[in-house]
Amino acid sequence: MSHIRGRFHEAANKLAIEYTASIPFDWRLYRHDITGSIAHAKMLAKQGIISDKEAEIITKGLASIGEEIEQGKFEFKPELEDIHMTIEARLLEKVGEVGGKLHTARSRNDQVALDLRLFAKEAISGTLVKLREFQQALISLAEANKDIIIPGYTHLQPAQPVLLAHHLLAYFEMFQRDVGRFSDCLKRTDVMPLGSGALAGVTYNIDRELLARELGFNQISQNSLDAVSDRDFVLEYEAAASLCMMHLSRLAEETILWSSAEFNFIELDEAYATASSIMPQKKNPDVAELARGKTGRVYGELMALLTTMKALPLSYNRDMQEDKEGFFDTVDTLLSTLEVFAGMVKTLRVKAENTGRAVEQGYILATDLADYLVKKGEPFRTAHDIVARLVSYAMEKDKPFSELSLAEYRDFSPLFEEDVYSITVESSIAARNIIGGTAPKQVERALATAQKIIGDIKGGK
Ligand code: ARG
Repeated sequence: MSHIRGRFHEAANKLAIEYTASIPFDWRLYRHDITGSIAHAKMLAKQGIISDKEAEIITKGLASIGEEIEQGKFEFKPELEDIHMTIEARLLEKVGEVGGKLHTARSRNDQVALDLRLFAKEAISGTLVKLREFQQALISLAEANKDIIIPGYTHLQPAQPVLLAHHLLAYFEMFQRDVGRFSDCLKRTDVMPLGSGALAGVTYNIDRELLARELGFNQISQNSLDAVSDRDFVLEYEAAASLCMMHLSRLAEETILWSSAEFNFIELDEAYATASSIMPQKKNPDVAELARGKTGRVYGELMALLTTMKALPLSYNRDMQEDKEGFFDTVDTLLSTLEVFAGMVKTLRVKAENTGRAVEQGYILATDLADYLVKKGEPFRTAHDIVARLVSYAMEKDKPFSELSLAEYRDFSPLFEEDVYSITVESSIAARNIIGGTAPKQVERALATAQKIIGDIKGGK
């Protein structure tokens, strides 16, 4: 069997064959294709559409083709166009004419929809596992550096002190939303399309519910036209992956910044850093840079498929074969990024000497001084003005707040008293004792909650 020629008289053009073939990439669906076909053959026998004996020959043949492929003994040929025809052709070779009964009550259009959904379901489960492992790495880093205070930034300017653990838990929250998105996407992927045929449904008395059960699907599709032309589930995965990569790219950027000589807050483990080929002093954060870079291609794959699907008339169109390469690449990129990041995060070292120094610089306690005046009766806006003038004065004198005398403070407001010196980085974070705030008590609680979320998942709850 080669490209189906049907009523045609001429052989296909070689370039056209290569141009239209999907086997160079859809071979990855071989397991899903075989699983789907075995379930289909069994169902056909159960419904009396083929005999039990025929089903047995077909399923045995399919299983042995699976082994041939696993063992790398299989040759994929572009003339056989796609994974579906490739496996069917091999089945015919192996079991003879009876193999031709497998495609009864089925079309490649519902077959490819099935294969892709089986693949997507696996991809989602794999993604959720990797996300959990990565979240666990964030928690471990936070736990191991519980007392470390860093400058929190807005506009990349030091703004207010925060616990490093609080900063890391911000990422935990982002990835928790990603978990939600992938779990949600699973619900709409978990739909069994077989029985839709080419587009209008099939004429045989097949049992779709049985197929769904056999193949582990939660639901069956309700409209055959939609079932063969829907790729929303791929797009949803790609959209969720884009958001997740965006989150990873922000952590990547901070890893790059924080490991620079200028910040110097962290040191990457040598296993996750690269040396420069000409500058011996360098330790480059290539893993983080590549994650930042790969985010672009994942976005691109989402845009590519959205564009491919745009304005396609119902139902199946060959354009849709373009769904696969981007999808596979998105899954591979996301999973490898999550995995390598878990390792990088777990092994990086926080340089407490430098974070400690950084947090003492830059009048980072200015908001706390304003809050101090407010608590003594000054309206916040005027308190803000007073402290702004105080900062400008201290900068002129080149002194940190702690070196200003009480008399100097009182030149700006008579509300300043001796207790102004008890405002420290530690008191600043402790004061933010509100749910979602950076006070050690709150962060402790947030860490415990995060740990519990991960623990519950591991325990299967
Ligand atoms: N290789 C095709 C794809 O990936 C399979 C479906 C082909 N259907 C068809 N009518 N040519 O979309």
